[in-house]
Amino acid sequence: MTLNVPGHRDLKKILVLNPKGGSGKTTLAINLAGYLAATGRAPALMDFDPQASSTRWLARRPKGAAPIYGIAAWERPTGVTRSFHLRVPPDIRHLVVDTPAAMLTPQIRDFTPGAHAILVPVLPSAIDIHAASRLIADLLLVAKVSRRMGRLGVIANRVRENTLGFRKLMAFLERLQIPIIGALRDSQNYVHVAEEGLGIHELPPARVKKDLAGWLPLTSWLELRLNTPLTERDTLRPDTSLPGEDLADVVDLRERLRQREGAPGT
Ligand SMILES: Nc1ncnc2c1ncn2[C@@H]1O[C@H](COP(=O)(O)OP(=O)(O)O)[C@@H](O)[C@H]1O
Ligand SMILES: [Mg+2]
Repeated sequence: MTLNVPGHRDLKKILVLNPKGGSGKTTLAINLAGYLAATGRAPALMDFDPQASSTRWLARRPKGAAPIYGIAAWERPTGVTRSFHLRVPPDIRHLVVDTPAAMLTPQIRDFTPGAHAILVPVLPSAIDIHAASRLIADLLLVAKVSRRMGRLGVIANRVRENTLGFRKLMAFLERLQIPIIGALRDSQNYVHVAEEGLGIHELPPARVKKDLAGWLPLTSWLELRLNTPLTERDTLRPDTSLPGEDLADVVDLRERLRQREGAPGT
């Protein structure tokens, strides 16, 4: 399931990750693709989930909507190589990657090198915060995503502000020095807009005013990431030895999470 986009040095990859199902990966991925399309950047949307929600969303796009190039990466067509199947046309500069639930850490490692942005949508519940903590610890320790490079951001999803869940999520992320780059409201607009094959940025603004406000910090963060060229550190494979980054707090967090789960410390 390696994400290998051959011969395409100029492609900016935006990765949406969270092994927990229902956290909002597809919602985020399709709305990011819709945002890029609405701002004239004709992106590609690559769907790795066999449930194919992003692929179906693309199929529902109205005629005349801004173009988004779809790649059903979950399909295994016979008669073509994997890299041919995953190829992105050379004139496309932005790629949004929607990933399946239950992805294991070794698979996640294949996706992260060379990403301009890695976005993790998290629901503000205890179980989801726990799972997201595990994911973020693994991204930093195993996938060796650099905290310093600032490519990793969390989106609080389905947020009702000032609830205990939301405050807990904020507190946890602050401790880990991972920025919350946006909070998406719990809003039926996301459901309706997805049914129409559109993104929230493609509707008349008056219909989605409050939702758009939640997207502002997210899109400004994203634009900054997209405009910051990748460094060698961003493209390093996780299995190469890396310059040390002080991650004592993350190691500590992972240990505490394991203890709480009662899992053996492997
Ligand atoms: N901010 C939101 N407000 C309302 N419904 C949402 C929101 N985010 C996601 N949903 C709904 O929750 C369900 C799961 O979201 P989805 O994006 O498919 O998650 P994932 O891809 O991580 O499994 C979908 O039915 C989606 O419409
Ligand atoms: Mg999904």
